[in-house]
Amino acid sequence: MYLKQIKLKNFRNYENYIVDFSKNINIIIGDNAQGKTNLAESIYFLMTTKSHRLTEEKNIINISKQNLEVEGKIIKDEYSSEKRKIKLNKDTKKIFINNNEILKITDYINDLGVIIFYPEDLEIIKGSPSNRRDFINKELSLLNKNYYILLNEYNKILKNRNILLKEKQKNKIVDDIYFEILTDNLIKRSILIKKYRKKFIDKLNESSSQIYLEITGDENFKIVYQPQYETEDYENIKQLMNKNLEIDVKSGNTNIGPHKDEIIFLLDELNLQISGSQGQQRIAILSMKLSEIKIYEEYKKTSPIIILDDVFSELDNKKKNKMMKYISNKNQVIITTTDLKNITPKYKKESNIIEIKRGI
Ligand SMILES: Nc1ncnc2c1ncn2[C@@H]1O[C@H](COP(=O)(O)OP(=O)(O)O)[C@@H](O)[C@H]1O
Ligand SMILES: [Mg+2]
Repeated sequence: MYLKQIKLKNFRNYENYIVDFSKNINIIIGDNAQGKTNLAESIYFLMTTKSHRLTEEKNIINISKQNLEVEGKIIKDEYSSEKRKIKLNKDTKKIFINNNEILKITDYINDLGVIIFYPEDLEIIKGSPSNRRDFINKELSLLNKNYYILLNEYNKILKNRNILLKEKQKNKIVDDIYFEILTDNLIKRSILIKKYRKKFIDKLNESSSQIYLEITGDENFKIVYQPQYETEDYENIKQLMNKNLEIDVKSGNTNIGPHKDEIIFLLDELNLQISGSQGQQRIAILSMKLSEIKIYEEYKKTSPIIILDDVFSELDNKKKNKMMKYISNKNQVIITTTDLKNITPKYKKESNIIEIKRGI
């Protein structure tokens, strides 16, 4: 699968822009603040219906406009192509396949794949546990529609349970039967969420440590899932929830569950967040994301589009080449950079080069 063409209308600094891509390597070149990341973001948005940046969604609409449109031509195989479109205004988003409106996001994203590498990725390791949960949630939701649905249900139930907890906190009378049902439903879903997460992290570990080793030549990289509680038994979890009820009421929040899980990155048994150098953290993220390529192919039966937004400038040539080795020629690759010197000659030769200047 690859993206043949994208059309942007009022997407960030692009008012009317159209560009063609090759099915192999594409290099987007331009000075700072010209719109390279914005273009990368628009591709991610077209493929996932969401921005990869932590931003309020309406911020992606051009500042002086009310709505945006992103349209792409996707080549699925030699025989079929599709038009995908997203229209967004300040309060609604509409998604289309070949001009037919799609009502369920899962139907739209199910057969698309994209993996983006970008400088702020580092926050997955450097940031708070919620950065790591967000990463796992985002990736798993894109990979598996059942997880997407499950997580949405979990969050809804959690929100409702917390509303009741806040009522209890103020000594208001609440419907205890309803409260029990919510707790029950929360537990059932938490068991499933943990299973998905565990399997996904196992899968990541299968190849990311090998990739890390290959890039650096030494050291032992491992991702460890640390759920807030280990048990997967309904009755045990129920007991834990009951034990915590007092604390939950006092804080007006549910303090137990997968929304409190943690993921740890180890290098030779040392926690990378605490004792890793920025270089080691960067390679760890790259290794983990590169290992996702295989997972995408396995889960989605398609090769994801790989976007490398400004990540090459920090790597030496040897590391860049090792990295490119993992991106097979099955994948369409979109690289942004300020300087073509960042691209090794071997790849530059066969690349489609796109120059960007102030969004045109
Ligand atoms: N909603 C928006 N409307 C108009 N311009 C925007 C919007 N969001 C960001 N920009 C502009 O986009 C530019 C940055 O683009 P970006 O893609 O991050 O640059 P780079 O080429 O360095 O990656 C800035 O000039 C910024 O003002
Ligand atoms: Mg940028």
